[in-house]
Amino acid sequence: MQTVVSGIRPTGNLHLGNYFGAIRSFLQMQEEYNCFFFIADWHSLTTHPHPDNLRQNVKTILSEYLACGVDPEKSTIYVQSDIRQIPELYLYLNMNAYIGELERVTSFKEKVRQNPNNVNAGLLTYPTLMATDIIIHHADKVPVGKDQEQNMEMARLFARRFNRIYGVEYFKEPASFSMSDKALKVPGLDGSGKMGKSTGNAIYLIDDEATIRKKVMKAVTDSGPTRMNQEKPEVIQNLFTLMEIVSEPSTLEYFNEKWNTCEIRYGDMKKQLAADINAWCTPIRERILDIQNNEEYLKKVVRIGAEKASASAERTLQDVREIIGFHR
Ligand code: ADP
Ligand code: TRP
Repeated sequence: MQTVVSGIRPTGNLHLGNYFGAIRSFLQMQEEYNCFFFIADWHSLTTHPHPDNLRQNVKTILSEYLACGVDPEKSTIYVQSDIRQIPELYLYLNMNAYIGELERVTSFKEKVRQNPNNVNAGLLTYPTLMATDIIIHHADKVPVGKDQEQNMEMARLFARRFNRIYGVEYFKEPASFSMSDKALKVPGLDGSGKMGKSTGNAIYLIDDEATIRKKVMKAVTDSGPTRMNQEKPEVIQNLFTLMEIVSEPSTLEYFNEKWNTCEIRYGDMKKQLAADINAWCTPIRERILDIQNNEEYLKKVVRIGAEKASASAERTLQDVREIIGFHR
């Protein structure tokens, strides 16, 4: 059976973009593959989170994974920092990673530009840590968004290079993977394109009904269509895209018809969209709240995940130590 690895950094609550871009494919993949889904808490240290926030965010993401249906009976769900073999393999990979190639990674250069005062070594070696996460379980497939493509190329490069340096055929090259042909991009409601935490335009799975209604009603629109069957400008297309994701096909068709005949009333459309997002989010939100309070259950999931993931990682490290030539 093929192996799948993916992680999300614990930097806040999950939003609709995270669900439809990542979690939904986790749910499908856990039915078919040997899956490792983790919370990338070491990765999040590049921005120096407060210990209380880190603790809370790890618990939040874990509860949200579970509430969405990522199933500890089917997948190995774990917290990255529970797997002590990861920093060991990260160290070995860093010995074969060159400063020049790490400095050329686009997301690194972007971070340097955004935060010139926090160019730390962890940020530079983010791709080696991510490669470690992936090859430590010999992943075949990694479900990630387009923005991670360069990190995936680095992971393949580091796997190949390790094999070449030691003259072995040990690590395989992981492939990026998307469940659908075109990876879904969930738009924001402020007309700025992608829904994301950092852009402040996200609808979170944990948002209550009133909050969701308020966010949707505030969505940016225009003055309305003036010609029949007119092409939709981006801000309007965004509303339709969200509707396509959460509403019944007949609802979408109804508003499309209204658009095409220039009879659309954005207020009505937003009310319907808010109601449909709420209908979709409410059961998930209720499960999140339930699970968050169930400390016993969360502890058990994390313990079992850590055992399974550590066992897999330890098998790899035993081979790697032998290949590198450490004494036994
Ligand atoms: P954010 O952009 O909110 O900081 P992350 O970068 O932590 O989210 O992304 C976590 C996962 O969710 C990644 O796999 C990413 O591709 C996916 N994702 C995030 N936002 C969206 C979106 N608007 N549409 C589709 N997928 C998304
Ligand atoms: N870099 C990924 C992100 O920002 C998170 C991540 C860390 C990851 N390690 C991973 C994703 C390994 C897939 C596999 O979204």
